[in-house]
Amino acid sequence: MIRIILVGYMGAGKTTVGRQLAKALNVSFYDLDWYVEERYHKRIPQIFAEMGEEGFRELEQRMLHEVAEFENVVVSCGGGTPCFFDNMDYMNQQAETVYLKARPDVLAKHLKMGRTVRPLIQGKSHDELEDYIKEMLLTREPYYKKAKHIVDVSLMDNYEKIAITVDLLRKELGV
Ligand code: S3P
Repeated sequence: MIRIILVGYMGAGKTTVGRQLAKALNVSFYDLDWYVEERYHKRIPQIFAEMGEEGFRELEQRMLHEVAEFENVVVSCGGGTPCFFDNMDYMNQQAETVYLKARPDVLAKHLKMGRTVRPLIQGKSHDELEDYIKEMLLTREPYYKKAKHIVDVSLMDNYEKIAITVDLLRKELGV
């Protein structure tokens, strides 16, 4: 049975890599943010606006407990998921967890290129974003580092490199 959960900061490529890894392993892929949006029929920014971050974190935990029961899946969770409640310990109990680690400048670049609306970083300039990421990683990395595996994805900046990252992950996980 395969159950892999990818954690890491926003912009690390959890969704992109997760989708490709699932495809390579011929298992289903779930993105926790998308799962929350589908179950509640609301986009993430709307949930933040209506319920605040605290409300979002509760829904997120509830949905994590659903997807982390599925078998033969790759799941990418949100950047904050491991850092609330006992979520990281729970994920470690349930799955092979992988921290996709990337440098703050790489994360900032990916986030500037991406089209996803992320309430926590809206309206920040590139420099503000990089500083914000650095500061946030100080509190978040201790949670991410509890993952069973760590894979550096700082060099992943085009599609060819996504395939290389997927191969790296498969080697690391032995799948
Ligand atoms: C968040 C990351 C987002 C999403 C929400 C909050 C965070 O997911 O869950 O906007 O706290 O880092 P991605 O990491 O998939 O962008």
